[in-house]
This record gives sequence, structure tokens and C-alpha cells, in this order.
Amino acid sequence: VLLLCGGGVALGTWAWTGTVVDTTGKVDFVHRLAVPPLAESRIDAQGRRVFDLRAQTGGRDLGQGGQTRTWGYNGDYLGPTLRAKRGEKVLVNVVNGLDRPTSVHWHGMHLPAVMDGGPHQMVRPGATWSPHWTVDQPAATLWYHPHPHGETEQHVYRGLAGMFILDDEPSAALALPRRYGVDDIPVIVQDRRFDSDGQFDDGRSLLGGVGILGDTLLVNGTVGPYLDVSTERVRLRLLNGSNARSYDFGFADGRGFALIGTDGGLLASPHQTGRIRLSPGERAEIVVTMRPAERVVLRSYPPNAGVDFFSSRFSGGDDSFDVLELRAAGELAPTPEVPARLVPIDRLDPATAATTRRFQLSDRKINGRAMDPGRIDFAVTRDTTEIWEIAKQDGTPHNLHVHDVQFQVLSVDGREPPPELRGWKDTVLVTANRPIRIIARFADYADPNIPYMFHCHLLYHEDQGMMGQFVVVEPGQSPGRPPAHSGHG
Ligand code: C2O
Ligand code: CU
Repeated sequence: VLLLCGGGVALGTWAWTGTVVDTTGKVDFVHRLAVPPLAESRIDAQGRRVFDLRAQTGGRDLGQGGQTRTWGYNGDYLGPTLRAKRGEKVLVNVVNGLDRPTSVHWHGMHLPAVMDGGPHQMVRPGATWSPHWTVDQPAATLWYHPHPHGETEQHVYRGLAGMFILDDEPSAALALPRRYGVDDIPVIVQDRRFDSDGQFDDGRSLLGGVGILGDTLLVNGTVGPYLDVSTERVRLRLLNGSNARSYDFGFADGRGFALIGTDGGLLASPHQTGRIRLSPGERAEIVVTMRPAERVVLRSYPPNAGVDFFSSRFSGGDDSFDVLELRAAGELAPTPEVPARLVPIDRLDPATAATTRRFQLSDRKINGRAMDPGRIDFAVTRDTTEIWEIAKQDGTPHNLHVHDVQFQVLSVDGREPPPELRGWKDTVLVTANRPIRIIARFADYADPNIPYMFHCHLLYHEDQGMMGQFVVVEPGQSPGRPPAHSGHG
């Protein structure tokens, strides 16, 4: 595919001068990587940190020779980065400036179900929804995106998503790069395809039925991005914000990097590796070391090679892509080495689990049932620990995302999990015939009537019904009924 864009239109940091993408996924790095602005906030009379997010339509020059119609929060595409500290009370005023209902889900956040922004918290056009909660979890790279049942794929594809960074004292005490936009960089990776009018092509791939697969990568909404690096070490907060595609990130020159964090926070110690695979919704924080004046390309390699024969064969997802070029300055500011110890992670003890549940993902259903917003699939007792065993047998890639909690992986196919699965996770890739056992504590926020979701984060599968609902109840309490107005409120 040869994509040539119109030249020279400069929109601040969102500047476009031309780009070429070929079929091997090689790109010319001609646009400075856009960094989503940090969201402004204020403290209200009750001491809450207040953010404003408005979902709206827009248009952006994405190198297609004109404006591509997009959706964004407070802008044309994606949204600002929200940032809060552990212990802070936050409130977000979500305004729906679209002509159809949407919602905003805080992916990875531990919060009451009624604030979660799933399909039971729809926001009507013109309405404002103001969820609030206390941040009570470790520093992490979370994100937010719409969750309207049956339409999440479309809303995210058009551009609705953003990062939500949490901070805490233990992470602030570590010698890690932490200057946002300087040496601590959000990297939101999404694949998109364009039609002949330069609009997003939302046709689904026929093979394998994974949903929409693009041939062009956008990183923070930038095609062909480069990042100017001014320090010896740079921290990248990688978010797979794609609808269906998995990536296996590594550097083109084979250099290693330190994996320091996963979905729900920092690891106990850095893991030196050359690759990190992320399925849709997953995050990883990495620190890469640079030498003066060099350039190195972050690439994505075929993610399923050798792992899941059927997935790689039928997903169409086994292409390589150039993602981002890092360009080091002639002189780099010195940075301390990555600390050998990061944060303590208390292992959840399987012996304390109240229940083990089994989940079989196949045919766009979970345990043979498609999502029914009026049905609660099970109840979890507040303040208990559960083991969930997740398996899949069909030939399509799936992952599982659980709302409300961060979990730990106990085993993959009966074996100890690899280092990248030893930290806090909220989304995990499931490969055929390799069941994954996870463990989670459902600590707070009982509400028998308002469910949390668990689902495949390939958004087409989620929309098609590969999703279920659980409630957290007080000991001895029975689950209630989800509100009848779910769906398009
Ligand atoms: Cu990232 Cu239920 O979603
Ligand atoms: Cu799936």
C-alpha cells in the first residue's frame, strides 16, 4: 500500500509533511510524535481533583490528502492524559458531544461498578456524567475508552481513547525517568486503514473474524512518528490501543530493554528482554538506553509466530510494522541506571481462594453464553479471593479483560508464568490449549445490582457478545438485577 499525503500543513505538534507506508510495514519517520497533553484539572470544594472530558467529532489530516473524519476527547483524535495520585479523590465530568450515546470506561481502575463506565453507564447525547472515586491502587499506566454494548469497536476505531496515569509514593521514590513528554513518553499504538476518500475504513477482515485490522500504524495519532530523545534513558508507556491486532515490540537493531511495568503497575524488579508482546488493551512500561546521535526503530514483529498456529494463520495479524523511530541528540543528559528492585508485590495465595471458576472462550461466547445485559452471570463475595481458569480452543485469538481488579497470573498451561506475566495484570492473552490461571482479590465496593464486565478485548468479539457480567456482593447477599435501561440510555 502506498500512501502519499498532501504536504506542509502544520498544526502545532500535529504537523504533516508526507509519509510512505509499504507492505513490509516500513515507514518513513517524518512526523514528530504527538504527545497527548496532560489534562488540566482543578480541586473542588470537596477536595476532589476534577477533570473535564468531552467526546466530540473532528477531522484531522492523517496523510490522506485531506481531512479524515475522527472522534476525540477535547480534540480531534484520542484524548488528554489524565493523571492522579494514589489516595486522591477524582471526579471526571464526561460530556457527550456526539449525536449518539457513548460511555467512558476507566480500564484497569479499581472503583465502584456504578462509576466504571461500562454499558450500564451510558451517556446520552448532550448529557454530562460525573463519576467520582478515590484512587486506591499502585502507580500504573491505565487508559480510558468507550464501552457502549455492540458499538465499542466503532467508537474506539474513530479515535476515542486516552491514557490515565496513576502515581504513588513508592514509584516516585525510584530513580526512573518521569518527566512526561521528555523522558517518560506515552506510546498509544493503533492500526488503521483508509478508504479511497481518506476516511477510516472499518471493514472487517474476513479471515478469522478478529474484527478491523489496519495496514497503517498511528502512534498517539501520528503516522510515521519519530521521537527526539535528549536523555540516556527513556521510558515508554506502551499501550496497545488497537481493536484486534496484537504486537510483539522490539528494537530493529536487536538491543534489549528493561521491562519495568505491566497493566497494573511496576514489576518487583526489571526484566531485561528484547521483546514484549501486547494484545489489545494491554500495557507495558519499558526503559531503553540510547547512545548519542544514534537512531533506533521500535518495531513490531509477528506476535503469534510459534505460539498459536491457528491465530497466526487466520488473524491476518502476523505482519511486521515499524512503530516509532527514536532519535538521540548529540549529547544526552545522564540518567541513573534502572534500579534493581522496583516495588514489592505481595503474591496472592491460592490456598486462600474461596472459589475457582472456569471460563471457556469460543465462538464469540464465554462458556457458551453470549452477553445479555439483563443477566448477571455470577456473584463474587466482597473481600474474597478467587481463582479463574481461562481457556480457549477455537482458532481465533482472544484475550480476557476483567473490570474492577488487577489480577496475578498463577500459571500458564500448568507452568510458572514468564517474567512479563508476574506483575499486576488486567488483560491477558489466551492461546489455544494453554489454560491460564489467574487470581484476584475483590476487595471493596459491593453492589448487588450493578455489574462489572469481563470480556475479550478484541473489540469486535466483545461487541458480538464475548462478554459477561459479575456483581460483587456482601457475604450472604444475593445478586440483584441489572438496571433495565442498559444499552442505549
Ligand atoms: Cu478496556 Cu471492558 O474494557
Ligand atoms: Cu476474542
